[in-house]
Amino acid sequence: MFSTELINKLKKFNTPFYFYDTDLLHKTLFAIKEAASLFQYNIHYALKANANPKLLKIISSYGFGADCVSGNEIERALHCGFSSDKIVFAGVGKTDLEIKLSIEKHIYSINCESLEELEVVNSIASKENKRVRVALRINPNVDAKTHKNITTGLTVNKFGLSIDDLHRIMSKIDKYKNLHMDGLHFHIGSQINNLNVFSELSKKVNTIQSYLEEYNFYPNHINLGGGLGINYQKPEDQIPDFQAYFKIFANNLNVNANQSIHFEPGRSIIGQSGMLLTRVLYTKETENGKLIIVDAGFTELIRPALYQAQHKIVNLSSNDCNETYDIAGPICETSDYFGRSVKLPRTKRGDLIAIMSVGAYGETMASQYNLRSLAPSFYNDVISYSALI
Ligand code: LLP
Repeated sequence: MFSTELINKLKKFNTPFYFYDTDLLHKTLFAIKEAASLFQYNIHYALKANANPKLLKIISSYGFGADCVSGNEIERALHCGFSSDKIVFAGVGKTDLEIKLSIEKHIYSINCESLEELEVVNSIASKENKRVRVALRINPNVDAKTHKNITTGLTVNKFGLSIDDLHRIMSKIDKYKNLHMDGLHFHIGSQINNLNVFSELSKKVNTIQSYLEEYNFYPNHINLGGGLGINYQKPEDQIPDFQAYFKIFANNLNVNANQSIHFEPGRSIIGQSGMLLTRVLYTKETENGKLIIVDAGFTELIRPALYQAQHKIVNLSSNDCNETYDIAGPICETSDYFGRSVKLPRTKRGDLIAIMSVGAYGETMASQYNLRSLAPSFYNDVISYSALI
C-alpha cells in the first residue's frame, strides 16, 4: 500500500494533511457503476461524505447524481459537474431559501421529512408558479445495527415521516397542488456491515408500498439512501462488494413496472481513498503506559471522538519492533484521541504517521476549534494544494 517512493513524497509536506488516492477512487467508481448497471440502479453520491471539488469532479464524470443536504451542497454539486436533474435534496431542516434554490435549479427531487415541510414546499412552489417533484422520506423503524449516533431509521430518531403521517398525506393528497408526489425515500443509517439490515429494509418498503396501493398511489421512484460500510480494520480491503449489496435489494424489494430505484452512497465510494498524515510531536510515559502526541487532532478527524471509531494507524518512518501506545492529538479536550493501546513499531518524535480510511467524513467534518488552520489536501496524481473554488 505504501511504496518507498510514496513515503518519500509524503515526507516532503508539512503535516497534518489529507492525501487522496485518485486511482483507487476511479477503481471504486468503476466498480459501483458496473454493479449498479447490472440492476439498472441510479446512484446519487452523498456529498456530505466528502465535498472536495477535485474529487467531486472525478465522481461526477461517471455520470452519477448527487445527494445534497444543504443549499451550499447543491451549489457545490452543480459547480463540480453534477447535472441538476440528478440532484436529490434531503434533510430535516431545509430553510425557505434552500427550498427556493432547489426549485429554481430544477433538481430531481426534494425529499420531504415532515407534514409542515410539505406545506412549506407547496407554498413556495406555488409562489414560484411551479409544480415540484418531491419524495416522502419515511422513517421505517428498521434498526441499522450500527453506532447510535449514525442510526437514522428508528422512531426515536428525528428523521422522516411516520407511517401515520403517510396515511394523513394520502388522504388529502389533492391539496398539495404544486407538488408532484413522485417517490419514497429511506435512509436508515451509516457504516452498516450487517447486510441483513438491507433485506429488512426492503421488506419494510414492500409493506409500505402495499399500504399506498390502498390509496391508488404508485411511487415512480424509490430511494433507499446510503449506508454501506467499509472495512476500517483492513483498509487494504479497498473496494466494497457493491454487487452483493445491490443483490440484497434485487432479491427482496418488490419493484413495480416503470419504477426507478435510487441509492445515495457516500462512505463506500470515497472512504478508503483518503488518509490523514500527521507527525509525532512528543512521546511520553504516563502511569497508563506510552503516549504519543501527534500534530493532527479531532479538528481533522472527529470520528474517533464522536463515534468511538477505530481507524488503522501506521507509522511510515519506523520498522522497529512493536510497542503499545495511546495516540492523542493536540486539542485541549480529553476526547482528542485517535487510538488506545495501539501496536506500532517503536515511535519517536518526528515520525510520519498515516491514519487510514479517512476519505469519508474526515475533511467534511473538519473544524477550526482552538483556531487551528484547516488542513490542506494532496493527491497521488497532482502533488499540489487543492484547487480553491
Ligand atoms: N443519504 C442520507 C439521507 C444520509 O443522511 C446519508 C448520511 C447518506 C445518504 C450517506 O450515507 P453513507 O453511504 O455515507 O453511509 N459522520 C458519520 C456519518 C454520518 C452519515 C450521515 N448521513 C461518520 O463519520 O460515520
